[in-house]
Amino acid sequence: MRDFDLIVFGATGFTGRLVAEAILEFPEPGLRWAIAGRSQKKLEDVRSALAERFPEAQDLPLLVADVTKPETMDDLACRARVVCTTVGPFTVLGGALVQACVRHGTDYCDITGEVGWMRSVIDAHHNEAVDKKCRVVHAAGFDSIPFDLGVVVAQKAAVAKWGAPAERIRTVTGRMSGALSGGTLASMALIMDSARRDRSVLRQLANPYVLVPGGSGPDRNDSRRVEHWPEHKVWTAPFIMAGCNTRIVRRTHALLGMPWGDAFSYTEAMGTGRGVRGWIRAQGIRMGIAVMVVVLATPWIRRLVVGPILPKPGQGPSKESRESGHFALHVVGHRAGETIAVDVKGNGDPGYLATSRMLAQTAVSLAVDELPPTFGVLTPGSCLGDVLPDRLGRVGIRFSVRSS
Ligand SMILES: NC(=O)c1ccc[n+]([C@@H]2O[C@H](COP(=O)([O-])OP(=O)(O)OC[C@H]3O[C@@H](n4cnc5c(N)ncnc54)[C@H](OP(=O)(O)O)[C@@H]3O)[C@@H](O)[C@H]2O)c1
Repeated sequence: MRDFDLIVFGATGFTGRLVAEAILEFPEPGLRWAIAGRSQKKLEDVRSALAERFPEAQDLPLLVADVTKPETMDDLACRARVVCTTVGPFTVLGGALVQACVRHGTDYCDITGEVGWMRSVIDAHHNEAVDKKCRVVHAAGFDSIPFDLGVVVAQKAAVAKWGAPAERIRTVTGRMSGALSGGTLASMALIMDSARRDRSVLRQLANPYVLVPGGSGPDRNDSRRVEHWPEHKVWTAPFIMAGCNTRIVRRTHALLGMPWGDAFSYTEAMGTGRGVRGWIRAQGIRMGIAVMVVVLATPWIRRLVVGPILPKPGQGPSKESRESGHFALHVVGHRAGETIAVDVKGNGDPGYLATSRMLAQTAVSLAVDELPPTFGVLTPGSCLGDVLPDRLGRVGIRFSVRSS
């Protein structure tokens, strides 16, 4: 028997600390778990801070592990049934832990949104993870759980209602309030740096089926335009996370065995409201994204603003802002002129409070739930679609079907 059901790696970082808090806030009876990071002193400080709010945390085991020391990755992977990690940017810091987990047949989950890195993990480890009967689950945060599971829930509802899945699904974001951490900005900047240096990275990111090796289908790259989406009755702007979410949904479909048909199509955009105000907001968001790309992709501008204006790694939104945050998205499926809709709503800043709860529940689910015998480099929807929506409902993230 392994020492722990679950290890939270990266617990000294901004999001990792919140993941540990989320496990304490919504405890799973009998769960044996530990926190891990590269500094014993920082881990002790995190544990003391956690114990102020949750006295039971004072006995939490601490494990020192550094991704630059492979033997410590093996140690984490050997001692737990599941390791969840927030140690990013994953392109730089993620590989050693995935490798160790697959080698030791340990389930793994993370909150990466780095599509190029996920593809490299699929190429390097999918087959071995299938052989070892373990699960590597990427994108278990705001990108991409609400979107990926929103589609899975909508397709189950469609089959229940029509006896057949939706042929096309479109998701728009609704009311949303949240902020970015320094770690996320660092990950985004890294992707832009590598795309600037290497055009093949750009081509890879533009491929809608990049996470389905050899896969193809009707979808093109995400829209960069302001558009009116009649089924949602709103104007839309490009959605910065669509580049990850849509690829995850397509991989979910492939891993499930293409149950929604070869012609299944999925797209996403940011909803900006109705009428002229919705159109103006959409134009503003489109321009805002262009400015953000220039800032993050230009190292000298980045140096000027990261720190004084934008958060540095380790920093992120305040407790007050995390707790007052919220999100909503609307998933609409179509078949033969009929529609089915799923609303996904969550409390808390989507990128941090809600993300930490999503990762915590994903990890706990991998550790304790009865799951289908699906192994390899997976997506949340492909292995946790039957259990995670209910778990998330208990931590304030709800999926509700609305027929129309
Ligand atoms: N999918 C989503 O919705 C979502 C949401 C939020 C964040 N993220 C991603 O999550 C990642 C973390 O974000 P964050 O804001 O929490 O970043 P952060 O505060 O900078 O945390 C990074 C963590 O990595 C650790 N680390 C760095 N180098 C290490 C090494 N060599 N060995 C072991 N640990 C090491 C840091 O340890 P120290 O404390 O010792 O420095 C820290 O614990 C980013 O990649 C971000 O993009 C995704």
